[in-house]
Amino acid sequence: MKRAAMPPSTPSPSLPPGPKSRWVLDHVYQHMKDPLSFFVRERERYGDVVTFTMGKHPMVLLSHPDHARHVLVDNAANYAKSPEARRNRRFGRGLFPADGEHWRRQRRMAQPAFSRERLAGLVDTLVDSTRSMLARWEEHARGGEPLELLREMSRITLSQMGRAVLTEDMNETRPRVRDSIRFIMTHDNRDRSLWDLIRIPRPSWRRYTNALAALDEMIYEQIARRRQSPGEWDDMLSLLMAARDVETGEGMSDELLRDEVMNLFVGGHESTATALAWTWYQIHRHPQVEQRMRQEIAEVLGEREPGAQDLPNLRYTTQVFQESMRLLPPAWLVGRVAMGADRIGGWDIPPGTMVGICTYLLHRHPDFWEDVETFDPERFDPERVAKRHRQAYMPFGAGQRLCIGNHLAQMQATVVLAMGLRRFRMEVRDKSALVLKAGLTLRARHGIQVRLESLPARESTARQSVG
Ligand code: HEM
Repeated sequence: MKRAAMPPSTPSPSLPPGPKSRWVLDHVYQHMKDPLSFFVRERERYGDVVTFTMGKHPMVLLSHPDHARHVLVDNAANYAKSPEARRNRRFGRGLFPADGEHWRRQRRMAQPAFSRERLAGLVDTLVDSTRSMLARWEEHARGGEPLELLREMSRITLSQMGRAVLTEDMNETRPRVRDSIRFIMTHDNRDRSLWDLIRIPRPSWRRYTNALAALDEMIYEQIARRRQSPGEWDDMLSLLMAARDVETGEGMSDELLRDEVMNLFVGGHESTATALAWTWYQIHRHPQVEQRMRQEIAEVLGEREPGAQDLPNLRYTTQVFQESMRLLPPAWLVGRVAMGADRIGGWDIPPGTMVGICTYLLHRHPDFWEDVETFDPERFDPERVAKRHRQAYMPFGAGQRLCIGNHLAQMQATVVLAMGLRRFRMEVRDKSALVLKAGLTLRARHGIQVRLESLPARESTARQSVG
């Protein structure tokens, strides 16, 4: 009783344990400096539920699958999206930061764009974008210049998503938009400083506003073109424009369409690019995995390009991608805010508490994973998956807010890996330089420089059975 009357800034006596704040912004500062190391360190000391002092309300870090299920599935109605997601101007009122009835309506209208048939129909586009990338790689391999992996993967996923959502490859047609997207990604993943708290405008903010404006202009132009000739388009934006709310019969306003394009096209391409960059890195570090992938790709595809029917057969390749996202999940922290009081793991969660579910830690929980740091794609053999806690692995989130693009991302990855690996071998330069940077997504702080070696045409062509 007494506790309910306390002001929200006063820690509840039965809040989960956590480090003492040594000065007023201690935890905020440590979180800004290196959030992942801070969380990993304090989780070691305090266990699965840890409280931090991050301003007005406490922040609770969760790394047990039961607790993730509680927040995202069983008691999801009590948890809203984090204010950080809502504050980000690029997401607007789109799916990612949306809540409540508005979210439900948007999700219902966006879902048909991700139906099994629609996704199968996209495979040729994914393949076509990858083919262009490989042609460019051929030149790099000849010249011997290094490439930065995340930049390359962003380029390919931008091409794939641009074509899927807007029928346009921005790398080719709109270099200004492409550069704006790159800038937005870098800015959203920047190291935070105390200046960010004070919110004093800086030159980079103006650049960010300009980059958003360039994207907005492009998206509104695309919407206008589809309004002029609605029958001519067959992409995700045209599906969103045709979607009607089942209850009101209304479609989306231009502003909402803009927001959803930002969420799908810009947001979606970034996570997949990050996941793919890490997967290439892991393949390079594990020659026996690389060997087995090559074998599978040769058996399933021979020299053919993949079609929709091939993707389920590239099972090991899929598992490699899954295992890579276990160790290095792009969405390393899933955030929520408790609306009402709750209890997690026997501890009090007062209203207003920020809750961070750390997939990086969850995917290493020693009760659910053996030899946690070992890269082992066989963990994702279907029989082993079936025996595991469902939320022990959740790179795409969980519950009703599960990533809408999860199957598409997996398809993109399988296509890029299978086609890329067949033609190239990668040599990572300066492996020691690998330092993690946990921003909006989990990246390599100094990038990953690679050299490409072009492989001779396969002898396996002679052995393949033509599909
Ligand atoms: C490997 C790639 C990807 C990863 C790791 C990833 C991860 C996630 C995660 C963890 C969430 C849940 C966030 C939360 O609950 O707060 C999410 C939601 C979302 N993702 Fe992805 N994602 C990926 C690819 C994509 C793609 C390709 C698209 C678009 C085509 C996309 C669009 C979205 C959207 C719109 C949401 C919000 C869904 C909702 O709340 O209804 N993502 N993603």
